[in-house]
Amino acid sequence: MMLIRSLTVAAFVSAMAAPAIAAGDLKKGETLLTRDCSRCHAVGASGASPRADAPAFRTLATRYPIEALEEALGEGIMSGHPDMPEFRYDADDVGAIIDYLKSIQPR
Ligand code: HEC
Repeated sequence: MMLIRSLTVAAFVSAMAAPAIAAGDLKKGETLLTRDCSRCHAVGASGASPRADAPAFRTLATRYPIEALEEALGEGIMSGHPDMPEFRYDADDVGAIIDYLKSIQPR
């Protein structure tokens, strides 16, 4: 009985840790970026940034690996940003944002 229960828990935990990209997460990432970033950055797979000096998110991978943003998003993103408010996201939101950003990079 004990054994069965702990196996179930282990399966559940590894399912949570798996880097599965669920459609719901992509949508959530898009929603967060649209809410917080879209007044300056182009958030989608096409279109120009409202602020010409803000890079379109679909071009970010040409500068550095998208994963490099993970820490910045979790710890308070880039206060170096000109007149950009500080954003901080919890781990779930960071995962959704990173997955979304990866999904819009041209391949
Ligand atoms: C008020 C306008 C504004 C908002 C809001 C904004 N940004 Fe920016 N962002 C900029 C500008 C301008 C630049 C380019 C100048 C720079 O790199 O410092 C930039 C650059 C960036 C870069 C590239 C930095 C680099 O080193 O190449 C990233 C990544 C980024 N923004 C992410 C975000 C994210 C994620 C959000 C939302 C959570 C966001 N920005 C919201 C204005 C903004």
